[in-house]
Amino acid sequence: MAIDFNALRKLNEGKTKIIYANPDDLKSVYMLFKDDITAGDGVKHDIIQGKAFVDWQTNRDIFEYLNRKGVCTHYISAPQERVCLVKKLDRKIDIEVVTRRVAAGSILKWGDMPEGKRFDPLVTQYHYKDDPLHDPMLDQSYVNFMVNNKGATEYSEMRKINDQVFEILEEAFANFQIQLIDFKLEYGIIDGKVTLIDEITGGSFRLWPYANEEPKLNQENVLSELNPAGRLDKDNYRMGEDLDMVQSKFAVIAEITGKFKDLP
Ligand SMILES: Nc1ncnc2c1ncn2[C@@H]1O[C@H](COP(=O)(O)OP(=O)(O)OP(=O)(O)O)[C@@H](O)[C@H]1O
Ligand SMILES: [Mg+2]
Repeated sequence: MAIDFNALRKLNEGKTKIIYANPDDLKSVYMLFKDDITAGDGVKHDIIQGKAFVDWQTNRDIFEYLNRKGVCTHYISAPQERVCLVKKLDRKIDIEVVTRRVAAGSILKWGDMPEGKRFDPLVTQYHYKDDPLHDPMLDQSYVNFMVNNKGATEYSEMRKINDQVFEILEEAFANFQIQLIDFKLEYGIIDGKVTLIDEITGGSFRLWPYANEEPKLNQENVLSELNPAGRLDKDNYRMGEDLDMVQSKFAVIAEITGKFKDLP
């Protein structure tokens, strides 16, 4: 039977999802995906018919894959279209944790970095979540100090999970001739543990197809081996592509992540 969301208590509504109480279980909540798309910390905003559906598919397939690989996530199930059941947060951590393999996006401007520079080991950055302040980045040596001198192990836990998830997804997308460039993930505390929460969809990462069948990806700069113009992610929207095109690329992502269940 379909879930009647009008009868449920709305706990929270954000830019892309609504959270509803689950009357049958106080320890879990429903996450309903919306057709809204935003960029520039919410300044650019549109509605794309059907976006919620493809985001829900992508999110479901990625989280089911991560759970299978043993990652600690909030995801439980996808009980109906556009809806996920997840473990309810005990405490939200207001930090976005970014991992980068290849230099792209904002880091090219503020980091004075050539596009396509490859990072090995992966680069991790912590951004304090605050749209009006444009999610300012935390100073790395300060984070290290917090971990080593104040026992703030949440930071190192989040970095560890980010690295683990990046390596899992980078390898998964590589099966489809696509390079995971970077992503941002969110965390909370559930049952006393740092747990991966929220969503992983086309707005969470950059995905660039390979430029040729056997790209040489072990170089200092891998730009010539990749095809950024064929990007599948939300950069299409940020760059002003028409909404049909944006949605068709999100559908390609969902088609690919739909095949993750067949991966070993
Ligand atoms: N497991 C969970 N339990 C409870 N709330 C959750 C869980 N996972 C995600 N949320 C919350 O769902 C809310 C809606 O998500 P959405 O991404 O739409 O928000 P947003 O507008 O992007 O705001 P935010 O900047 O907080 O992400 C967020 O506040 C998010 O923290
Ligand atoms: Mg969000």
